[in-house]
Amino acid sequence: MHIQKELIQATSEYFEDTIDQLKLLEASKKYKAILHKISSQKIDTEEGRIDIENKNGKSLGTFWAGLCLDDILRTRQFIKGIDNAIKDLKKRNTIHVLYAGTGPFATLILPIMLRYSNKNISYTLLEINPFTFNILENVITALELEDYDITLVKDDATRYVIDPKNKPDIIISETMQSALAKEQQVPIFLNLMRQVSQDTVFIPEKIALHLALKKAGTPDGRFLKQDYTDIEKIFEVSKASMFDSYLSEKQGDEIEVFSKKKTIIKEMDSKTASYLLLNTYIQVYDDVKIDVNESGLTTPLILRQIPNDIKSTITIDTQYVISSEPRLAYQIILNATEV
Ligand SMILES: C[S@@+](CC[C@H](N)C(=O)[O-])C[C@H]1O[C@@H](n2cnc3c(N)ncnc32)[C@H](O)[C@@H]1O
Repeated sequence: MHIQKELIQATSEYFEDTIDQLKLLEASKKYKAILHKISSQKIDTEEGRIDIENKNGKSLGTFWAGLCLDDILRTRQFIKGIDNAIKDLKKRNTIHVLYAGTGPFATLILPIMLRYSNKNISYTLLEINPFTFNILENVITALELEDYDITLVKDDATRYVIDPKNKPDIIISETMQSALAKEQQVPIFLNLMRQVSQDTVFIPEKIALHLALKKAGTPDGRFLKQDYTDIEKIFEVSKASMFDSYLSEKQGDEIEVFSKKKTIIKEMDSKTASYLLLNTYIQVYDDVKIDVNESGLTTPLILRQIPNDIKSTITIDTQYVISSEPRLAYQIILNATEV
């Protein structure tokens, strides 16, 4: 069977309206096998495991980036969300998709690319890691996509300059971990948001970090909806939240400073809550979402156990910080004792 057809068949489950975990698992195994077959280079090597450390966060090594495909619900929700976004923009004569941080396989766009005609969608595939980029070139060549309008760019998406005459309609990047820690999702989106207009679709559309309390008496390590209560949203990455506040002109290498937030939980009682958590929510596109603990990207982060003898309020100061290790910085004050 021709490799394009094989890939279309293998990935059809990602486009179904209902989620069937078993079928998705089978689909991801087949999809992965095809990608490894056509990439014609081993990535489970020393070189493949080296992350790139940048001053505003790290970029995953080739092997780790390839593994993201195995986060089954993540991969399904992104593919489904991107597909829905393209369908919603179909009225436009042409659509330009910029995919920042493709990994070795451009995992989130290949199944979509092959399903649409090559006529009116153009793709810019951007990747910082040279080893990953070489494999991406192999994959695109092996799939015989010469008729498609694909531009491969080896560059840093936190600095990449968009051609003002060819602005993207859709910008995709999945360069994040839960709690928006370590990787460069935020500086990448800020750089790209600064260069496009309000009607550009960003995927994910929204990433939100919420402080939450895990209910006392619920099993440790279980994070079902009934096991925690959200307290307050403390950081959001979206066009709506970024456009007004943070998209003014930046001076050279200046790094954004996000506003600080203070959250006070009154009359804290250890009988009702056992842990203070940081929850990550992702709205991929419209109603396609990734809820808490549905993916490695939304694993709750335990900030602190609530002590048994707590009687007063808890104050939590938070601020998102971009540095060589981006993260939500926090300080928790219990009974006037800082921890
Ligand atoms: C988490 S992996 C995801 C791979 C693939 N997009 C997927 O979703 O399966 C992120 C990829 O983005 C790349 N990346 C990270 N920071 C980048 C940057 N500043 N510019 C371009 N690519 C970047 C990494 O090298 C890695 O290949």
